[in-house]
Amino acid sequence: MTVLELDGVDAGYGDVQVLDSLSMALDTDEIICLIGPNGAGKSTVLKTVFGLLEPWAGSVRFRGEEIGGLAPETIVREGIGYVPQTENVFGSLTIEENLRMGGVARDDDLESVIDGLYDRFPVLDEKRRAKAATLSGGQRQLLAFARALMMEPEVLLIDEPSAGLAPNTADDVFADVRAVNEGGTAILMVEQNAHKGLDISDRGYVLDQGTVAYDGDADALLDNPEVSRLYLGG
Ligand SMILES: Nc1ncnc2c1ncn2[C@@H]1O[C@H](COP(=O)(O)OP(=O)(O)OP(=O)(O)O)[C@@H](O)[C@H]1O
Ligand SMILES: [Mg+2]
Repeated sequence: MTVLELDGVDAGYGDVQVLDSLSMALDTDEIICLIGPNGAGKSTVLKTVFGLLEPWAGSVRFRGEEIGGLAPETIVREGIGYVPQTENVFGSLTIEENLRMGGVARDDDLESVIDGLYDRFPVLDEKRRAKAATLSGGQRQLLAFARALMMEPEVLLIDEPSAGLAPNTADDVFADVRAVNEGGTAILMVEQNAHKGLDISDRGYVLDQGTVAYDGDADALLDNPEVSRLYLGG
């Protein structure tokens, strides 16, 4: 079942158009990987879904309802989380304080949600009183995911989770992305490491100049000679 759908979306900055009649859909249990060259508009897609940009045209639907143009604080309450590429945790706060920050928009008791996350991600439990700045890059990324999960989103938008990480650490982060998905959260992920990103994904979209150049099952994209030549570095 489709949980998130973009239909003919145009969007941009000032009077510069970036997204050009972009359409894509995410199912409730999927991981989708969005790849494409620098400047293709990948981050702009996530920002438009999360309400940081207002679509100029077209429709963004979450569970069948139009959300295009709603404010991020509304969208986060509706059930969409966003993990930006950088500065996605507060280094001077502890793990636990970061998690509490992630839950500030909740009206109910945070303790059971935090405990649930500690059960799922024991490394965070062990370090709950440590400052986020003391975590490794991979652990920090996991904390950023967990922080977004405090709102128990149905959809998580993740921008380049492996950026700047060593290959082994990136593998850990991709395993964490899968773990988040297996907990019942659909994921729309942007990834510059297209091979590894597609490897853990169900489907992929190749974005070029603000529009979808290719899409399909992740395995099929990895095997597609043109996609490989144009976007996967041979
Ligand atoms: N805040 C902004 N103001 C003006 N133009 C912007 C802004 N952010 C991005 N752009 C422009 O929009 C286009 C798409 O940017 P976007 O960040 O979505 O690309 P991307 O596919 O995520 O690229 P990358 O792989 O480098 O992260 C680029 O030409 C970029 O320069
Ligand atoms: Mg980007």
